[in-house]
Amino acid sequence: MRLLIMGAPGSGKGTQTVCLASRSRVPAISTGDIFRANVAAGTALGRRARDFMNAGEYVPDDVTNAMVRDRLQRPDCRTGFLLDGYPRTLAQVDALDAALGEAGSMLESVIELVVDPDKLVARLLRRAQSEGRVDDTVEVIRRRQEVYNEQTAPLTTHYAERGLLHRIDGEGEVGQVAARIADSLAGALIKVSS
Ligand code: AP5
Repeated sequence: MRLLIMGAPGSGKGTQTVCLASRSRVPAISTGDIFRANVAAGTALGRRARDFMNAGEYVPDDVTNAMVRDRLQRPDCRTGFLLDGYPRTLAQVDALDAALGEAGSMLESVIELVVDPDKLVARLLRRAQSEGRVDDTVEVIRRRQEVYNEQTAPLTTHYAERGLLHRIDGEGEVGQVAARIADSLAGALIKVSS
């Protein structure tokens, strides 16, 4: 399984990636989580990424591409991977294709989670109360939505043209969304273990 889950901030990428990874025995690779771990550890990568993240902007492509390329070269990715939130720009699409092409591999499916933008703001403000993520303020959430619409939403057209895109209703219970994803992937003959 070589899969990407994309969607606007708060659409459930991370939640659904973790669900799928636990059932498919391939690693979940979340660029947001990797950046946050580096920020928390105070690494050079974290110091480079922090201000972009706090402002709701994307970390520059060269930094992000190099980080993901390294991660995909680890042995646990040989049987597949689940990408959460990468690629997000056309330059990242090209970098991913190049990295996979060198290994004789390619992306198999792209899941897009679709949720009403106002419901997403409410979800993320709820998370702000429990987790205190610094980018979960109304102002930064709105900026993250703008950046997504400008830079990432166009990737869905690209992946649809390649025949990889599965558009999934991301509203409802987490389990319902997971079942929709499993059904859609089954239609593409990709089995998710139960
Ligand atoms: P990242 O952490 O990926 O942030 P995001 O894209 O804004 O997405 P979120 O993590 O907020 O939401 P999600 O869609 O994963 O939903 P989740 O499952 O968490 O990235 C953070 C930053 O890192 C970026 O802004 C950027 O600066 C940088 N970055 C990352 N990748 C990059 C890249 N490729 N290029 C450049 N920069 C990059 O769920 C959200 C909440 O909703 C949770 O509380 C969850 O419990 C809840 N929830 C989930 N599903 C449901 C449901 N069905 N119903 C109700 N609540 C739900």
